[in-house]
Amino acid sequence: MPVFADVDTGVDDAMALAYLFASPDANVVGIASTAGNVPAEQVAINNLRLLELFGVGDVPVSLGAAAPLSIPLRTAEDTHGPEGLGYAHLPQTDRSLTPYDAAQAWVTAAREHPGELIGLATGPLTNLALALRLEPALPRLLRRLVIMGGAFDYRGNTTAVAEWNTHVDPEAAAEVFAVWGAAWGLHAPTHLPIVLGLNLTENVAMTPSILSRLAAAAGSDSSQLSVLDDRGTRSTATNPLIQVFEDALRFYFEFHFDQGEGYLAHLHDPLAAAVALDPDLVLYQQATVDVELTGTLTRGMTVADWRGHWGRDHNARIGIGVDPAAFFDRFIERVGPFARRLTDPDYS
Ligand code: RIB
Ligand code: CA
Repeated sequence: MPVFADVDTGVDDAMALAYLFASPDANVVGIASTAGNVPAEQVAINNLRLLELFGVGDVPVSLGAAAPLSIPLRTAEDTHGPEGLGYAHLPQTDRSLTPYDAAQAWVTAAREHPGELIGLATGPLTNLALALRLEPALPRLLRRLVIMGGAFDYRGNTTAVAEWNTHVDPEAAAEVFAVWGAAWGLHAPTHLPIVLGLNLTENVAMTPSILSRLAAAAGSDSSQLSVLDDRGTRSTATNPLIQVFEDALRFYFEFHFDQGEGYLAHLHDPLAAAVALDPDLVLYQQATVDVELTGTLTRGMTVADWRGHWGRDHNARIGIGVDPAAFFDRFIERVGPFARRLTDPDYS
């Protein structure tokens, strides 16, 4: 299945990309670099260096807009580290970006795979909104759209009620939900965007013990990360992908611990990537979604009208249930061998 990934690479975005490249049923045909966790330029560098680390062929990586549609960019180096991947260092690469931008990349990929392309957005929706302005037929060109964003009847992680991706560019999110829904609406409920908010993704928490399971599946020793370790302790894993994951996740674990959430990391984006390839991993409820843009306390909040108070067509399938163990089993059974092949190419 052709997949287009729009990411703000960050720690969990990087793990989502690893999952896609580890999945035999996915063919990543393009990657858009969206400003969010770190500036777009840094996201683009991270994406190119990850392709080098993964040892995969050339995949078009495009640079997105420097800022959200109508407000200044806000980034999250405190959460994802100064370059977006925690304490991890990625290999240098001489791979280069496409000459066209991320919005054009969305449209080019959709036109090259009409009706087949699976879109995955795990960052702010700035470039997806710009792509929709460029090609209003985009919703009908995609087979599926999965968005990691929002929080439905659930607290925010950026404000009391707003989730990060939506809060970085609320106008873009509002535009995407309005336009995409209108393009399909009741005609094809299965074509409504799948929207995975914190209410769902915070059920999926990576822990040091699950990370050790992944290292074992990669044939690598593991650093057995612990909250008792000195901050910034470097990974001793022998496998290069496990080493990057351990160094990146350590920073993310420390951030979650300091937030009072425990020494763990919610894998928002890898879950979205797994759902992009297999929507049956999650239970859904259809609703009409919109984004608060003017609320003093609530700007950036995603609001779901479950009962039709607004009298508007449904425009989203909201994820409401997932089995975390089933997700981690699938993540490990795919990414473990993928990592192992980096050091043992004949491993199958
Ligand atoms: O709120 C979680 C989302 O914001 C994830 O996609 C994370 O990578 C950040 O972009
Ligand atoms: Ca992200």
